[in-house]
Amino acid sequence: MEHNMILSTAAQNALPSGVRRMFELAKNYPDAINLTLGEPGFTTPEHIIEAAINGLRDKKTKYTPNAGIKELRDAIAYKLRKENGIACDPDKNLIVTAGATQGLMLAIATLVDKGDEVIIQGPNWPDYRGQIDMVNAKTVYAKVDEHNDFKMTADVIEPLITDKTKLIIINSPSNPTGGVLDWEDLLKIAELVKKHKIFIISDEPYEKLVYDGFEQRSLAAIPGLEDYVLTINSFSKTFAMTGFRVGYICANEHIVENLIKLHENMVASVPEPMQLAAVEAIHHGDGDVAEMVKYYDRNRRLIVDGLNRINGFSCLCPRGAFYVFPNVTGFGMSSREVAEYILEKTHVVTSPGDAFGPDGEGYIRICYASKYEQIKEALARMERAFGTK
Ligand SMILES: Cc1ncc(COP(=O)(O)O)c(C=O)c1O
Repeated sequence: MEHNMILSTAAQNALPSGVRRMFELAKNYPDAINLTLGEPGFTTPEHIIEAAINGLRDKKTKYTPNAGIKELRDAIAYKLRKENGIACDPDKNLIVTAGATQGLMLAIATLVDKGDEVIIQGPNWPDYRGQIDMVNAKTVYAKVDEHNDFKMTADVIEPLITDKTKLIIINSPSNPTGGVLDWEDLLKIAELVKKHKIFIISDEPYEKLVYDGFEQRSLAAIPGLEDYVLTINSFSKTFAMTGFRVGYICANEHIVENLIKLHENMVASVPEPMQLAAVEAIHHGDGDVAEMVKYYDRNRRLIVDGLNRINGFSCLCPRGAFYVFPNVTGFGMSSREVAEYILEKTHVVTSPGDAFGPDGEGYIRICYASKYEQIKEALARMERAFGTK
């Protein structure tokens, strides 16, 4: 082929999504129960939708400052101080992004060069790997262990650090495992980061989806980490606002100045009506979140108890996010075969663990953010198909 017509290496090497693949296969089954995508089962609260509509009516249809509208930066800074204990100057330490997805891509593009190494959890949210590949850096997986509640702790990370390590990404609560990091775990990670002088992203979009009294804390609340930590968050999961595409990064002033330059090249700014909806979510959305979390918690207990009764599954009870990541080695097949087998026998759609990197083999991911009755029906179908212990 003519050289000019060859697509970029990044595009050619990009891995197709193993989650989407199952999603597509499910279309062959009209009665499928789809538990693949990490999508809240609720629609966005009405008052948040109203705020976006009002923004459009008020003709907020232009570009905004690259860093986001002042009103939203003020609201985020207030939230970070109050809820996360993070000192944050809205004019210096914040940038509003198109969801955490673009926030992460922007941060990686700003921090990481070709050939650098980035340590992420394995199994991991697949986009981390895709984004690291896009800047021609190397992904290094810190394999987490089910027997240690899937925690990416300092002692798992430290042996992987080399002179090429530029960035560590932590994600608590985690997609796909639902695992969380306790305050003691964060303190040890903070020591590691200071000792080796490495940037660290704390990706926290599931921060409010926590259960059993778990107290979610932010790495950036630990003093002395200002030069190292970028806190990335989003309105998507917490407020059921995935389609609004609003997130943010909080980091030191020097990093934010550089984020803003690349952000201009990527998206310029996030639509203003969506930013206004995010302001509404911060100031008046907590009641909605509490209700949703209560609902997810009920689903969580239903699915964990249900799966642990069924032959082939062994499932930890996660303390965060809205996923379970059961061990399915009891089926004696690869995770992809198990997901396809479950689909074929029960029309329940799950994601194979290998869609979350090589360390996901032996597991499947189930999102329990959908309706309680659907989960009940999915469990009943699996119980009929595979029998109970
Ligand atoms: C761990 C993690 N980080 C970031 C995101 C991105 O979310 P959004 O771009 O909708 O804010 C997701 C979405 O699934 C996720 O699971």
